[in-house]
Amino acid sequence: MKDYGLYFHIPFCKSKCRYCGFYSILHNEETEYAYINAILREIKTYKGLSIDTIYIGGGTPSTLKLQNMKVLLEAIYENFVINLKEFTVEMNPESVTEDMLKLLKDYGVDRISLGIQSLFDHVLCLLGRVHSSFQARRAIEMILNYGLELNSDIIYDIPTANHDFTLNTLEILTNYPIKHISAYNYSFDTDFLSEYKNTDAETFFNDVIDFLYSRGFLQYEISNFAKNGKVSKHNTKYWKMQDYIGFGISAHSMMNGEDARIRWCNKGTVEEYIKGQYIIEKYEVPIAECFIEDVVFGIRMVDGVNIESLKSKYGSEVVEDFMKKIVFLKDENFICYERGCLCLTRKGQLYLDSVQQYFWDLFYS
Ligand SMILES: C[S@@+](CC[C@H](N)C(=O)[O-])C[C@H]1O[C@@H](n2cnc3c(N)ncnc32)[C@H](O)[C@@H]1O
Ligand code: SF4
Repeated sequence: MKDYGLYFHIPFCKSKCRYCGFYSILHNEETEYAYINAILREIKTYKGLSIDTIYIGGGTPSTLKLQNMKVLLEAIYENFVINLKEFTVEMNPESVTEDMLKLLKDYGVDRISLGIQSLFDHVLCLLGRVHSSFQARRAIEMILNYGLELNSDIIYDIPTANHDFTLNTLEILTNYPIKHISAYNYSFDTDFLSEYKNTDAETFFNDVIDFLYSRGFLQYEISNFAKNGKVSKHNTKYWKMQDYIGFGISAHSMMNGEDARIRWCNKGTVEEYIKGQYIIEKYEVPIAECFIEDVVFGIRMVDGVNIESLKSKYGSEVVEDFMKKIVFLKDENFICYERGCLCLTRKGQLYLDSVQQYFWDLFYS
């Protein structure tokens, strides 16, 4: 029996960060209670599923009251067959508490993903974060003292913020015994700072990769870096097109069947989800599109996409025809072939969106 990954979306935040386009609403206790009950209803529809990775993300899962988090954790253990390989919960520095860490650890959580973004107060202030650098360091120390693995999210290439603050943030972070860093380049998901779209992205990108490499962190995915092989097992499922089920509003799911891949998403608002009036938007992915999806998602991994596996899944003819059509990308040094895999070059990583669009255009043409 195959094991699924589970994702739970907790759409509450203490306040809305200026740059963030993810679906979340301001936290309030009454809604939180009703929302967790609605998640329990959805969980029951998948009772008995075998799972090996769990990710509670958001929004800000650490805004949940202890009791509500406990109810969710109990329901996970009651309803699924668990062969646990990794259990991650996202937290924000201002809401990391000893009580929450203890609860999570008692229920098998072994990894915290902490939204740090920067360790400089004026940058945090610019972004509209509600925590300080001091709170972030305190949170890191508390998590590490609990013996939990830690991922730190940071954002680089933030318009108007000096690049040195990113490198100094990484310098401080890598002095802690942490083994995973997600470094995202600033994305214009809201209008905030949109007047500064043209920055020197290439230098920033190279500096971040090279600095982390010098500290023993290997880039294994465009924005993800791990030390001692501590890659995210759950997120790797997304890039390798393995099955996952998402719970909660705006959560996505994907299941590979014998002859089709199904994707679905819970569409609507928190209120609609609570009332059970949300829409489950389902889409059956045609085989030709599955092939392009495997390439588009898989190429984010530094190891790339294995050509032989593609051939055994989709047939040699399809793959060879595709490789002929992407010769231009190879000639222009966006992609390369290494150890039997189709990979992005550093230049290709920098222009990821355009390379992915090129692949999609082949599908649509
Ligand atoms: C959706 S958030 C959830 C985690 C948590 N609430 C937090 O704020 O840290 C996950 C991560 O996405 C990244 N992120 C969100 N919006 C971004 C943007 N516009 N540009 C770059 N990274 C972004 C941040 O690093 C954030 O930690
Ligand atoms: S970045 Fe995190 S805390 Fe800020 S609004 Fe988005 S989900 Fe909420």
